[in-house]
Amino acid sequence: MNTLVTTSIEAAAREIRSGNVVAFPTETVYGLGANAFDAHAVQKVFEAKNRPPDNPIIVHIWSKRQLNQIAKSLSPKTKKLIQKFFPGPLSVVVQKSKAIPSIVTASLPTVCVRMPSLSITRRFLKACGVPVAAPSANLSGRPSPTSWQHALHDLDGKIPLILKGPLARHGLESTVIDCSRDPPVLLRAGAIPLEEIEKVIGAVLVQTHSQHPSSPGMRYRHYAPQAKLVLVRNAKELPQKKGNWAYVGVSKIPRLLSAFSFLPSTLEQYARGLYHFLRRCDELGIETIYAELPPEKSVGRALVDRLRRASQK
Ligand code: TXA
Ligand code: MG
Repeated sequence: MNTLVTTSIEAAAREIRSGNVVAFPTETVYGLGANAFDAHAVQKVFEAKNRPPDNPIIVHIWSKRQLNQIAKSLSPKTKKLIQKFFPGPLSVVVQKSKAIPSIVTASLPTVCVRMPSLSITRRFLKACGVPVAAPSANLSGRPSPTSWQHALHDLDGKIPLILKGPLARHGLESTVIDCSRDPPVLLRAGAIPLEEIEKVIGAVLVQTHSQHPSSPGMRYRHYAPQAKLVLVRNAKELPQKKGNWAYVGVSKIPRLLSAFSFLPSTLEQYARGLYHFLRRCDELGIETIYAELPPEKSVGRALVDRLRRASQK
């Protein structure tokens, strides 16, 4: 199959309406979408990504009016979150309606919904005319794509079309909150800090790394580069000689001896560039990556989560 890379929203939406899959930009990472009402189309998403079938998919909408097609009645806390953070990088897990086929939710009675804010994404979703089920547009186990080039690298020849858009502004996936339970549960730290969410709905339970009964996706090793990833807390843990190793971190390192480095000045920049950096390290054949662990608050919480996952072999 030839993969067309295009800026034509209409061509991309036409593929979705014909039951095919399309990679598209969002403000978090690129997604790989299909008509959420069409089980056969969603099956193609699992195949293209080589995604385990027990990992459910987020359903993307452009208008809050679509919620009643997808979800059963929404709790007051869910409504507050939607009011405050839709459109944006938040996904909420709610009771699903019958219209959503079980392949989308891996047979769970709940569905995860998100309304992206990027303008091209919203225009694309509107043109589709149906909710779009979409995981990140990477091969399973690879870092999520933050550019159309990443999506092309992973999915060239496997999907008919990539909708070309800008670099992902956040560079990390959406925050996932399970609103089917009370208190709600943080299933995945992400682009919206937990602190911001708690300001709106009060206390949220945080799952530890060892317990993940309700977010199947968090069971898998994710976001992984081919290089060995070593997490460090300070400069003393870095090799004291030149070698085929790379470094990423916000702390200034005197006499950095790495072959390649990414030195963001803020945690937001760290988040935005992390997946690109991990992919570059693979292209350069880097053997070991040393990554500075940020403090586990605000966007640092999501960074720590992704770094920990990427470091598990
Ligand atoms: O930013 C994002 O969220 C990107 C863009 C494309 O929207 N999407 C994304 O999708 O990261 P994915 O499939 O890579 O991650 C979805 C996460 C997984 O951890 C999955 O297990 C969880 O959401 N999830 C989806 N539906 C769920 C459900 N019904 N219950 C619990 N967790 C669910
Ligand atoms: Mg993913």
